[in-house]
Amino acid sequence: MGRSDRPPRKARAPDMDATPATSRQLGHVSKPDQHLSSVMPPLAALRTAASTARAHVRSTLAVWEISDIADMAEAIVSELVANAVNASADEHGRPLYREGQILLLWVRLRADGRELLAEVWDQASGAPVLKSADSNAESGRGLAMVRELSDTWGWYPTERQPGKCVWATISIAS
Ligand SMILES: Nc1ncnc2c1ncn2[C@@H]1O[C@H](COP(=O)(O)OP(=O)(O)OP(=O)(O)O)[C@@H](O)[C@H]1O
Ligand SMILES: [Mg+2]
Repeated sequence: MGRSDRPPRKARAPDMDATPATSRQLGHVSKPDQHLSSVMPPLAALRTAASTARAHVRSTLAVWEISDIADMAEAIVSELVANAVNASADEHGRPLYREGQILLLWVRLRADGRELLAEVWDQASGAPVLKSADSNAESGRGLAMVRELSDTWGWYPTERQPGKCVWATISIAS
């Protein structure tokens, strides 16, 4: 695999930080009071990615014993992944490739006793644009929902372009 096939440098950070909570940590966690991190392996930016990511969110939060925010977290991650998939496709919805490699996305969850941080990283161009709320609109509602459900959200470009990390936080009840 050539260097250019690699995901953007910052987008690889989830792998490098991977400290996915070890079974030792998880076995003792009740409302995480330490920093826990759970990184999915890269997913091809295909429609199936959202349901895979939702399942990962639900399982991870169950193990971290914060299932009370699982519905919200699942909905947020699902929207962010769907957006990443859309941005990783052409105008006909066909997946885009970079040097033969289908564009990838990453999902990372981090939690401490206070909040959950959900991140979705992609390799796509474009930027998230929050559309004004219009209840009749057929699209442009995803980020508005993310804003409603989360405490804070935002995005930043990855070092290697194109690509970005879109993130949202949810409070963990004490
Ligand atoms: N990860 C992303 N990369 C590039 N552009 C993005 C990304 N996420 C969102 N956008 C841009 O922000 C716009 C608004 O996103 P939003 O999720 O609110 O609406 P939508 O995806 O167009 O429609 P809906 O979510 O209602 O199906 C998108 O149309 C897209 O142009
Ligand atoms: Mg959307």
